Amino acid sequence: MSSEEETSQTSSSSSSPPLSSSSSHPPPSHFIGKKEDIVKAGRVTKLVNGCRDVLVVWHQGQLHAMDMRCYHSGGALQYGDIEEFNGRLCIVCPWHKYKITLAEGEGLYQAVDDPTVKPLRTHWRSKGVKQRIHKITEINGDVYVTLNDSSEAVESDVYQTERYRTVLLKAQPVPKNKK
Ligand code: FES
Repeated sequence: MSSEEETSQTSSSSSSPPLSSSSSHPPPSHFIGKKEDIVKAGRVTKLVNGCRDVLVVWHQGQLHAMDMRCYHSGGALQYGDIEEFNGRLCIVCPWHKYKITLAEGEGLYQAVDDPTVKPLRTHWRSKGVKQRIHKITEINGDVYVTLNDSSEAVESDVYQTERYRTVLLKAQPVPKNKK
């Protein structure tokens, strides 16, 4: 993959929370790769701007970008399956099967009406935004990510610190078939 480039051009193809940039300039976009390569790979991970590990996913004709490590406990989302729950596309964390919507980063779960009543009646609910979603831009076959730098804390931020990357990550297990 080519080295990181920056551009101030924007042409959105995915939504993201508001940015808190104090400058009047648009936030920089970072080159991820050629779209054809990302489509072929299905998933690409990249350290963006030297500070954020981002997962870019190609699924059903759309690109999505989010923090690479799961908000629950830092699971490697690049190895997660993509499934639809309650009509919403989610990446399923390979560690403990948490479901995260690709478009918004919401954590979904199944709530039970009354655990004493059999058969159980369940409903899909949202825990709110748990995974930081980033903005994807495509320009002439090149794919860029603009980091979502909203000052509002998102739980997946915990796994994006330098300490986590350099110290704690070394203890993270890698699935045998993904080494
Ligand atoms: S680390 Fe992702 S579900 Fe636990």
